[in-house]
Amino acid sequence: MKALILSGGSGSRLRPLTYTNAKQLLPLANKPILYHIIEKIVKSGIRDIGIVVGDSREEVERTVGHGGRWNVRISYIHQSMPLGLAHAVKTASEFIGDEDFLMVLGDNVFGTDFKPLIKNFYDNKANTSISLYKAADPSQFGVAVVENNRIVKLVEKPKTFISDLIITGIYVFDKSIFSAIDIIKPSRRNELEITDAIEKQIEMGGKVTFNILKGWWKDTGKLHDMLEANRLVLDGMKAEYKAVQAENSVCTGKLWIGKNVVIKNSNIAGPVIIADDAIITNSYIGPYSSIGKAVKINDCEIDNCIILESAFLDGIDRRISGSLIGKNVVIKSSEKRPYSNIFLLGDNSEIYFKNNY
Ligand code: G1P
Repeated sequence: MKALILSGGSGSRLRPLTYTNAKQLLPLANKPILYHIIEKIVKSGIRDIGIVVGDSREEVERTVGHGGRWNVRISYIHQSMPLGLAHAVKTASEFIGDEDFLMVLGDNVFGTDFKPLIKNFYDNKANTSISLYKAADPSQFGVAVVENNRIVKLVEKPKTFISDLIITGIYVFDKSIFSAIDIIKPSRRNELEITDAIEKQIEMGGKVTFNILKGWWKDTGKLHDMLEANRLVLDGMKAEYKAVQAENSVCTGKLWIGKNVVIKNSNIAGPVIIADDAIITNSYIGPYSSIGKAVKINDCEIDNCIILESAFLDGIDRRISGSLIGKNVVIKSSEKRPYSNIFLLGDNSEIYFKNNY
């Protein structure tokens, strides 16, 4: 069995971060999303992995490499246009050959193992197996209608409610998926949808089975989901109470602290991860914060944030919460008059602040 990761999407809902970073490389607990996925695939016993990439090919290849880190083989397959998930699968047909394959969407993260779905596929001699997840608002996803324990219908982003069972981003296929993809038409969003291809398999009498995903799952497409995924990953990390080299500081809860980190006159309340070379002074770093390499934070209160490499935060009065801050970003209070707000922001940046009255 091979594995295929689809990493072609542009991440438009996470701009401006995704102008300069591939969405699938944004970090959760200081580790790129793709690493979290690859680790799960490797754990399921698969050693031959293909990643379908678009414009961000170079960055993904540079960061992920060719598998040496996990002792597996990683190949790259270039999708020239983002024409949908089924199109991405078709692009990878040469890599897959005649093998069965596990497919994972490159912006989905899972608290569970992939093994139960693979077992479901082989135990049932299925053509396709998918994992479903019960959700309150399924309208932004593909959904499955299940009757008498069988999938009777699959619809991509249904306009009216037909089921609360979302199709998550893990699938197991045999090669019959390629003939189904060959006969589907582009959807309303002008993409070849994998959901439509699986629906076609059902219509043609193929065997499509499912399991209900146990544990958590997140599509990290939006800020809120990224933060939630970061929280879930930090919660799931093994407790590690490192002796923290901290001066005049209070450090409590689960903490993962890198090398050469300086903590002075501060209060760190885990779960918190701080990467190598970060400097935290006169600050409070609260639960569910992931602080990247060489970040400097002085005179600030922070919680529930993802802060990327070499950002610099200094002298912010109000607490910074629920934020995703990119590489080399500087947020500083004004040191001299006029004490006005000064912004140098990329396209699509978002700032929310409370005025003083
Ligand atoms: C894709 C799939 C959809 C699935 C979702 C899971 O949607 O088309 O069926 O439920 O991923 O994340 P997209 O992210 O392309 O909108």
